[in-house]
Amino acid sequence: MLNIAIFGAPGVGKGTQSALIEKKYNLVHISTGDILREETSKGTELGLKAKAYMDKGQLIPDELIINMLEKKVDENINAEGILYDGFPRTVKQAEALDEMFKKKGLKLDTFLCLSADHDTLVARLLNRAKDSGRSDDADVNVIENRIKVYNEQTLPVADYYRAQGKAVEINGIGEINDIFKLICSVIDNAK
Ligand code: AP5
Ligand code: MG
Repeated sequence: MLNIAIFGAPGVGKGTQSALIEKKYNLVHISTGDILREETSKGTELGLKAKAYMDKGQLIPDELIINMLEKKVDENINAEGILYDGFPRTVKQAEALDEMFKKKGLKLDTFLCLSADHDTLVARLLNRAKDSGRSDDADVNVIENRIKVYNEQTLPVADYYRAQGKAVEINGIGEINDIFKLICSVIDNAK
């Protein structure tokens, strides 16, 4: 089973590239943000709890996310592979993922680390706000907070995987298809 994580700041292109990757490699795409938004629209207890954090651009507490993630992995344990988008987002989540993989006899094959400069991220999210319906895209202060939270709490996860030799740096600026080709060569190497 192939396990790939796609990582990077809000607006860097994780969801965009995930849609292409999941199709080409027949992977199950697990986006923690998408799951939380679905839970919110269904009005579940988890969704209502999560909304309060998401609307401010803050992270949902690790325990809630880790339980939710493991449940999704168990549901898809017979898949050809899983693409993790937006998870892990703290070092604690990364440690929990390692622990979960160990328990299930699995491993992370590659950690795709996308990057783009601050102004590009903000411009992309404000542009997406026009039709995304995402409340966290609509307010520039919330976007700025998401980027700040990313820099403070999420960036250390990249070092965690660099130390394991699993992180591959990818420039998130350029044509979507050119970035995808680069990602494909990384995945083909990791398989
Ligand atoms: P999440 O849904 O993961 O959002 P995010 O990380 O803020 O990232 P985005 O989805 O906004 O951006 P993206 O990288 O997917 O970019 P996209 O491809 O859409 O998380 C939302 C919230 O949920 C968090 O703030 C937190 O509250 C909570 N949460 C989720 N996971 C969590 C976790 N593990 N722990 C705790 N809390 C969690 O692209 C953006 C735009 O740019 C699009 O319009 C796209 O068309 C455009 N674009 C993409 N690539 C290019 C390109 N190459 N050139 C030009 N434009 C491009
Ligand atoms: Mg996304």
